Amino acid sequence: HRHLGHATASAVADALTSGEWHAEPVAWQRLADYRADGGFALLTACRAGEVSYETLTGMLEQAGLRGLGGAGFPTFKKWGFVRAEPGPRYCVINADEGEPGTFKDRYYLERAPHRFLEGALISAWAVEAEALYIYLRDEYPELHRVLHEAIDELEAAGLVEPGYIVMRRGAGAYICGEESALIESLEGKPGKPRHRPPYVAQVGLFDRPTLVNNVETVYWIPLIWERGAEWFASHGRHERKGLRSFSVSGRVKHPGVHLAPAGITLAELIDEYCGGMAEGHQLLAYLPGGASGGILPAAKADIPLDFDTLQAHGCFIGSAAVMVVSDQDDLRAVASNLLAFFADESCGQCTPCRVGTEKMLALLERDEWDAAELSRLSQVMMDASICGLGQAAPNPVLGLLKDFREPLAAQNVIVRG
Ligand code: NAI
Ligand code: SF4
Repeated sequence: HRHLGHATASAVADALTSGEWHAEPVAWQRLADYRADGGFALLTACRAGEVSYETLTGMLEQAGLRGLGGAGFPTFKKWGFVRAEPGPRYCVINADEGEPGTFKDRYYLERAPHRFLEGALISAWAVEAEALYIYLRDEYPELHRVLHEAIDELEAAGLVEPGYIVMRRGAGAYICGEESALIESLEGKPGKPRHRPPYVAQVGLFDRPTLVNNVETVYWIPLIWERGAEWFASHGRHERKGLRSFSVSGRVKHPGVHLAPAGITLAELIDEYCGGMAEGHQLLAYLPGGASGGILPAAKADIPLDFDTLQAHGCFIGSAAVMVVSDQDDLRAVASNLLAFFADESCGQCTPCRVGTEKMLALLERDEWDAAELSRLSQVMMDASICGLGQAAPNPVLGLLKDFREPLAAQNVIVRG
């Protein structure tokens, strides 16, 4: 296994949890060093016609590269959807990493901005994009400077036409990470998700077909080319393929970004990558996919953490933000904190989400939880919300109702019904 130096990664995690955004700047790999390492060879070969679109997508299919923003949609297929539409087309990189507990994109951007930029330019090349937009969250101020400097280096070296890459600042709204809200925001409008269909692949930025890829998804492309699809696919456990960058936080000895095989279980991840549970803490629960991916009990620490498996347990891995909860944590506080977050971040355009998140928060604050009422409310939110925020907001509560009645009772929360 490869370990990404947890000392620095946990410093990043600490900075995030303490709210100190201005962590020590990390030295990033400059263009000259990246090129000396073979960087930009793939982009140059693609542009020169030495590597065809078909060869490249064949490689991504074989590697099993999927969208690492959270949804896991096969990358080569998404490229194909956009390319099948008439031009002009755009490419947008979603760098609005906002899922609570997720800090992997930041980790890669801070260290290897040029590998990311090469991957992003290859994605733009794949769909013959007129321009490449990068939408970066504003809470990563240091990264704005890093990326601007890196783009300047690329322009000076003649690797990209001045102005082709457009950097845009997010403005602190979680919902702007949802791809259609992000596009609205890029167009200068309030970040409110659009109905689907049409997908952004058909009607995206300025109503043109648009490829939206996550930072980490494109980051892997040059590396997969360099080391081979087989290299990427050969990792994996419990019959899963590939690598995942887990952002681990909570009650473990070494929180941080841990690059581990897809399909690893939580127990394996904690033991082999995180140095075990923090001193004096016993595993009680874990959130496998940030705030929105649900919550699982310690008894389910041996199931593969991957896109497909977790669905059967009513959860999803999403952007692989694993939050570890111990016997010393307050489960009601966990649920209320998450619902307060969703209520705050709801864009407000649809009632089941705007009112549902606030109503659910109020129900959670009662001495007794009414399971039937919470379930009914959850169903309405899941069925009738426009986007993933409202649809996924009940997940942590549903998980607690399903698997945590005993520990809740021990913490004086009685569940009725
Ligand atoms: P989705 O499954 O609806 O779509 C995934 C992607 O595939 C999108 O780009 C969509 O446009 C495309 N797509 C799907 N079907 C298509 C079709 N028939 N034609 C053309 N394109 C198609 O998932 P969504 O709502 O985009 O993302 C949800 C995920 O986002 C969750 O898993 C969640 O974990 C993650 N997330 C990540 C955050 C982060 O900070 N990284 C923050 C919040 C959520
Ligand atoms: Fe906005 Fe929530 Fe509706 Fe999504 S579900 S569109 S965040 S109100």
